[in-house]
Amino acid sequence: MVSLKIQDKRGREDPVMNVQWYPGHMTKAKRMMQEDIKLIDLVIELLDARIPESSRNPDIDDLAKGKSRLVLLNKSDLADPSANDTWLKYFTDKGFVTLLIDSKDRKGFGGIKKAVEEACAAKLERDRKRGIIGRPVRAMVVGIPNVGKSTFINSLCKKASAKTGNKPGVTKGKQWIKLDKNVELLDTPGILWPKFENENIGTNLAFIGSINDEILDESELSLKLIEHMKMMYPGVIGERFGVGEDNETVVILEQIAVKRGCLKKGNEPDYDKAARILLDEFRAGKLGKITLEMP
Ligand code: G4P
Repeated sequence: MVSLKIQDKRGREDPVMNVQWYPGHMTKAKRMMQEDIKLIDLVIELLDARIPESSRNPDIDDLAKGKSRLVLLNKSDLADPSANDTWLKYFTDKGFVTLLIDSKDRKGFGGIKKAVEEACAAKLERDRKRGIIGRPVRAMVVGIPNVGKSTFINSLCKKASAKTGNKPGVTKGKQWIKLDKNVELLDTPGILWPKFENENIGTNLAFIGSINDEILDESELSLKLIEHMKMMYPGVIGERFGVGEDNETVVILEQIAVKRGCLKKGNEPDYDKAARILLDEFRAGKLGKITLEMP
C-alpha cells in the first residue's frame, strides 16, 4: 500500500486525517445509536468490499458488545472476485457470519435469512431456554456514510410487509420494518464515522469517494491512485487509457490528459480534468473489479 501524504487544495498536509466530520452531527448520531442499540439483538455491519478494513469503524466492537453480529461486504460487484473470497474467509475466520452482497442489484440477498439465523443462533437458544418462543430478532444496519446502508435497507424491504409502527413495550417513535415473522429491522441506519487510525485509511476512503472531493486535491489523489494501481493491478491503467505504465505517475497522468483530450489553452495538459476522469472511472468500476486492500 502506498503511504503518501494527502494535501488539500491549499497544500496543507493530511486534511483527511484532520478533517472534522461535522462534530455536532457526529455526537448526535452516536448518542442516538447508543440509545437504539439497546433495543437491538443483531447488528448488521455493512462494509465496502473494495476496502473492508478501511471502511470499518473499530468502535463498532464496543458498541455492539453482547449483540449478535452479521458482516456484509457490500458493493462486491465493484470488487475483485478473488479478493472477495479472501475477505470473506478473513471475517469468517474471525468468527463473524459474513456475506458478499450487491445491494444495488440485490445480489447475495438469498443468503441473508439463513445468515441472520446463524448469527442469532445463541440468542435464539437462550430465548428458548427461558421459554421465550417466537419473539422476532430485532436488527439494525450500521456503517459509514455512503457504504450503501439506505440502498441495502430499501432492497431488503422491497418484499417485506409494511412498517410495523410503534408497538407497546417496544419503543415510541421508532419505525420497524417486518422482514418476516422472525426478523424486524430498525428503519434508521446507524451512522458510524470512519476512524483514521493511519494515513492509508484516509487515502482508501478518498479513492472510493467516501470523502468529499472538495477538501482534497484531486490531482494529488489521482497520482496516488495511479501508484497504487500500478502496484496492485499492473497493466490496468495502461490498458484502459492507452498509456505507458513505466513512466512516473505524473507523466502517466499527463498522458491520460492527452489521450482523453483534456487540454488547456496552448495545448497544456489539464491535470485536474484528467484526474477527475480517472477517479470517476475508477469509482464507476470502469477500470474493472478492484479491491484496494488485502488482509
Ligand atoms: P448510505 O445510506 O450508507 O450513506 O449509502 P447509500 O445507500 O446512499 O449508497 C451510496 C451509493 O452507493 C449510492 O450511489 C448507491 O446506489 C451505491 N450503492 C449502494 N450499494 C451498492 C452496491 O452494492 N453496488 C454498487 N455498485 N453501488 C451501490 P449514488 O451514486 O450515490 O446514487 P445512485 O445514483 O446509485 O442512486
